[in-house]
Amino acid sequence: LSHLFFTYQGIPYPVTMCTSETFQALDAFEARSDDIVIASYPKCGSNWILHIVSELIFAVSKKKYTCPEFPVLECGDTEKYQRMKLFPSPRILTTHLHYDKLPQSVFKNKAKILVIFRNPKDTAASFFHFHNDVPDIPSYASWDEFFRQFIQGQVSWGSYFDFAINWNKHIDDENVKFMLYEDLKENLLAGIKQISEFLGFSLTDEQIRAVSDQSTFQAMRENSQETHGAIGPFLFRKGEVGDWKNLFNETQNQEMDERFKECLAGTSLGVKLKY
Ligand code: PPS
Repeated sequence: LSHLFFTYQGIPYPVTMCTSETFQALDAFEARSDDIVIASYPKCGSNWILHIVSELIFAVSKKKYTCPEFPVLECGDTEKYQRMKLFPSPRILTTHLHYDKLPQSVFKNKAKILVIFRNPKDTAASFFHFHNDVPDIPSYASWDEFFRQFIQGQVSWGSYFDFAINWNKHIDDENVKFMLYEDLKENLLAGIKQISEFLGFSLTDEQIRAVSDQSTFQAMRENSQETHGAIGPFLFRKGEVGDWKNLFNETQNQEMDERFKECLAGTSLGVKLKY
């Protein structure tokens, strides 16, 4: 499937979603101090956080948050960033870019950045299913083939581990908050409270509970056709921790453990990830 990717500054991106012209235009993107950036490797739960943040904004402002563009910052035509100048604040920007590849204005203007991580095994499993379940995107011949490409970082947005190593350097930065998919699954209410506090919102417990009720996997899956169109049910597939066990064989399990050790063991993120 290598013809389906193009490499920009060392990272493979899907030709159907990204272009080098858009990446060049992105350099000039002007972030605002009240932009909310949601950064994640694909399939780590960015739509979940996007939904939670949208619901929190609704709770504080009573204005329904709608994103007039495809929310992934680096995807779209080159005029996108011009149009985005007119969007009202707060704007929510999702991205699968490394910290180093974000436009400088994000840091200069101190936009808040929420980073969501997920165990690489479930991330890989979710990514594989997405490719092979969604009708209009390329599928892999087998899980084994996908696993090999994933480990080698030859998938859309490149290596999970490079992404993790790059972001890990900023885990304690001001204006950056790391969240874990697994923590949210364990205690959604607590996770939403943390996000709300990080964004400087002050909501009652009752309001937080209402956001939580709207943000369960079941609630989001039920509304997925409405919120995400035909792709919705594929995007909100299973929403579980540990589904990787249905795909990985023992050799693959050990190979991923080795890679995890090599890349992340002992790092702040490695310790935090429930691996
Ligand atoms: S994408 O395509 O990269 O933007 O996908 P992303 O949204 O980052 O991740 C999709 C996975 O997140 C799961 N998800 C949830 N899990 C639990 N609860 C809620 N509310 C929720 N919302 C999304 C989604 O089901 C995908 O994981 P899998 O394992 O494939 O089900």
